[in-house]
Amino acid sequence: MPNALVTGASSGIGRALAVRLLDKGYTVLGIGRNEEQLKELASKYTGFTYMVADLSNPENIEKIKNKVASSFSPLDLLVNNAGYGQKKKITEMAQQEITSMVNVNFVAPLLLINSLLPYMPQGSTVVNVVTAGIFVLMRQLPLYGATKIALHYASKALRNELRQKGINLVQVYPGLINTNFHPRAGLPEATRGEPPEKVADAIIRAIEKKKKEVFVPGYLAILKIFGPQLPEVF
Ligand SMILES: NC(=O)c1ccc[n+]([C@@H]2O[C@H](COP(=O)([O-])OP(=O)(O)OC[C@H]3O[C@@H](n4cnc5c(N)ncnc54)[C@H](OP(=O)(O)O)[C@@H]3O)[C@@H](O)[C@H]2O)c1
Repeated sequence: MPNALVTGASSGIGRALAVRLLDKGYTVLGIGRNEEQLKELASKYTGFTYMVADLSNPENIEKIKNKVASSFSPLDLLVNNAGYGQKKKITEMAQQEITSMVNVNFVAPLLLINSLLPYMPQGSTVVNVVTAGIFVLMRQLPLYGATKIALHYASKALRNELRQKGINLVQVYPGLINTNFHPRAGLPEATRGEPPEKVADAIIRAIEKKKKEVFVPGYLAILKIFGPQLPEVF
């Protein structure tokens, strides 16, 4: 049975993806802070194990690495999905609010890739959940946009690095998705958004077809014409 690690498996896109992977026969290690939600998933699926970990604290990366080394190796799939936004001007954010968001949305995915790489064999996959919002200026979520555009840039570079190890990196650009994301960020609920299962299905297809990127809904790929263009110069 293939092994997968999904961050942010307690709700929204991560939860929907964990369920799809479990249905496909994966053994899933889900990461999040909400133990009640994670426990509920574990009670429904024998293949689901969870670890309560706050990804804003880089010290937790070591604990996750130890868990993977002891029980989830080889790791066939790493999904960096956990993330959040906050409707707040950068100039009004406290130091801890800034470092926490940068850590969860940008630092944790990179630390997880670096520490789990030794357990990922050729043919495995890394999925980074970015946002289609990076192609516009999200005035209400400025730091969120900055962390995600950083993840976008790093993902482009990492894709080349991981390819040399036989690992495919999939970048995911969701548009408006109806999850807890918007209420948590201090925005109205995204009732007109797509269901998280649609993103989960698109991610599964991208993994299976070894795609490099996926937009949900698909027509949002048109946003690429706005940049950010990253021609490979040196
Ligand atoms: N919804 C959208 O419209 C949309 C659009 C584009 C991109 N995205 C991206 O999609 C990803 C998933 O978001 P979602 O829409 O599914 O929202 P969600 O329902 O709020 O889920 C976010 C997940 O991230 C986890 N998380 C947040 N902070 C964490 C922390 N400090 N430590 C560990 N886990 C943490 C949450 O787990 P706990 O609460 O258990 O900690 C939760 O499982 C995010 O990266 C988001 O930026 C969402």
